[in-house]
Amino acid sequence: MAVRGVLMAVDENLLRLFSYYRDAEIRGATLLLKLMQRLDDPDAQVKLSKHLEEETHHAWLWTKRITDLGGVPLRIDDGYQRRIGLEVGIPKTYEQLFALTVVVEERAHRRYLAHAASPTVDAATRDVLHEVTRDEKWHIAWMETKLREMAGPDGRARVEALLARYREVDRRVIRDLEAKERATFGFSLSETAAS
Ligand SMILES: [Fe+2]
Ligand SMILES: [Fe+2]
Repeated sequence: MAVRGVLMAVDENLLRLFSYYRDAEIRGATLLLKLMQRLDDPDAQVKLSKHLEEETHHAWLWTKRITDLGGVPLRIDDGYQRRIGLEVGIPKTYEQLFALTVVVEERAHRRYLAHAASPTVDAATRDVLHEVTRDEKWHIAWMETKLREMAGPDGRARVEALLARYREVDRRVIRDLEAKERATFGFSLSETAAS
């Protein structure tokens, strides 16, 4: 039946989208683990532990949306984080790791907000989007504050340059991803005026 066919196609698109979200959360958690192993800062260790717990919880929430829809997570080889990683290279210093995480978190926050505002979003997905958005806001705030604190007054220009460079790469990567989403879904859920 045509209607049934349309419904199945929509579900497959959602499964792919949630798999992209899940992939971004897992790769975000990986960056945090790298930071935790490197950083000798007790306050940052406490915050990173909570932050990591939340990112893995986000990965679980998207996994649960996928399984609730009757699917399994799709392997994502060309997601946002992988694309941005290819462009910026492997972050080596704690400043690069922090700055990259801040920019990645800003993007996740914006994407989730845009999706929550979409007229196509279902109630269960909106609940997850609201929960993860709340956490992402805190993630951006503490990491940006800590990055500036650790860099100190002498490192201010260095931090600004790093953030500006990563945000520029992020805009380029998201333009490509949005084009891909438009080709797949017919529209992009991450399109916002600010992006
Ligand atoms: Fe997250
Ligand atoms: Fe986050």
